[in-house]
Amino acid sequence: MQALVSCNRPLAMVVVSSLQLLLIAALFHLGSCNGGDRITRLPGQPEVSFGQYAGYIGVDDKGKRALFYYFVEAELDPATKPLVLWLNGGPGCSSLGVGAFSENGPFRPSGQVLVKNEYSWNKEANVIYLETPAGVGYSYSSDAAYYQGVDDKMTAMDNMVFLQRWLEKFPQYKGRELYISGESYAGHYIPQLAEVMVEFNKKNKIFNLKGIALGNPVLEFTTDFNSRAEYFWSHGLISDSTYRIFTSVCNYSRYVTEYYGGSLTPLCTRVMNQVTRETSRFVDKYDVTLDVCLSSVLSQSKILTPHQQAGQRIDVCVEDETVNYLNRKDVQEALHAKLIGVKNWAVCSSVLEYELLNLQIPTINIVGSLVKSGIRVLVYSGDQDSVIPLTGSRTLVQNLARNLGLKTTVPYRVWFEGQQVGGWTQVYGDMLSFATIRGASHEAPFSQPERSLVLFRAFLQGRPLPETFS
Ligand SMILES: *[C@@H]1O[C@H](CO)[C@@H](O)[C@H](O)[C@H]1NC(C)=O
Repeated sequence: MQALVSCNRPLAMVVVSSLQLLLIAALFHLGSCNGGDRITRLPGQPEVSFGQYAGYIGVDDKGKRALFYYFVEAELDPATKPLVLWLNGGPGCSSLGVGAFSENGPFRPSGQVLVKNEYSWNKEANVIYLETPAGVGYSYSSDAAYYQGVDDKMTAMDNMVFLQRWLEKFPQYKGRELYISGESYAGHYIPQLAEVMVEFNKKNKIFNLKGIALGNPVLEFTTDFNSRAEYFWSHGLISDSTYRIFTSVCNYSRYVTEYYGGSLTPLCTRVMNQVTRETSRFVDKYDVTLDVCLSSVLSQSKILTPHQQAGQRIDVCVEDETVNYLNRKDVQEALHAKLIGVKNWAVCSSVLEYELLNLQIPTINIVGSLVKSGIRVLVYSGDQDSVIPLTGSRTLVQNLARNLGLKTTVPYRVWFEGQQVGGWTQVYGDMLSFATIRGASHEAPFSQPERSLVLFRAFLQGRPLPETFS
């Protein structure tokens, strides 16, 4: 009966015979109190044995704002595996479209069907993909005024309320080991969410938060953004003279501050024009070696250029495929999703007006306090990303370790996936580690799915990355 009440089921159900009660309890166990959110089958999906759920959790008390989630249970023994919340960044981009359907979810859309991802993170965990804040993807506020000036604080609070209420809906996951992982602007979302959870736990310990993993995260604005110049230069994307002006006349942190502050100077405009001309829009800044999806880059110009090479493993146009898939009526029905206040599902929100100068709020110090409160932290970097380059993240983690007085327990070394180097890693104390993923983009599990899964597994197990061949 405990579960019935906690799931807000009608109390009328109590008034039944004990036999019926048993039956209800049995049904309850299978469908839980989230029966309505269970996905029977996604259109075009291959046969799978794990449970999938999707739906809304209201996060305000007026019934106006609700966040959409997609939850996949672990392929094997979900009852023994941890719970992981995955968040993409933006701010304003979708964890469903990017995280689940392009990175580490069980399927990737391809034409009319879904193809199984052999390196899905639900091999290791039960994973929730959350579209946050309201205004992203299928998540909404029926009062559009909410979208003006959404900031980090509001997002962290909604995310925590979401988790709290989600656990009411899925009581079998209460007390389960919980991890939060994500990338990019989630370098803000995750530490800020973890911080309010730790605070909440002091009064009422409902979150069994064990660790966070941050991929190519924004942790400290100037260090992260100004490492871009050297990255471009050392990868041959800009000339020596452009590097000079990009590090003296106007650096990137200054440009972004001016841009989002609405005070762009001619000086910075000139420098950025030069940088943009040399780096070219035909190079993906999120992966300087990966081919671009021409239909995305040239969506305005209708030029058709065949570029798919034989044997290419990565579908660089997966974003287009995801947009098509998630805008299908039958897919939305299967996901129990609805479009409120927008005509289409989009990868990144067109209605949300996020407080973009929140970019400047440092979160590296929050990461430090999380480490101190016993939460394991992994910062990892796809090493082909020029947007949040590994060099900035590595410096930030190194400095944090020094400030916390943590000694190196695993000196900087390579780690292996199979018989190849998967990247480099360094561990500080027993709670803080850094790792690169070799050949990976900003969206590491998208471009290096196998290596990313090895990293994810080691993170959950709290072990250093593999030191030798396997
Ligand atoms: C970037 O530019 C700002 C403003 O001009 C300056 O204060 C800062 O020191 C510069 N940072 C780097 C890393 O060059």
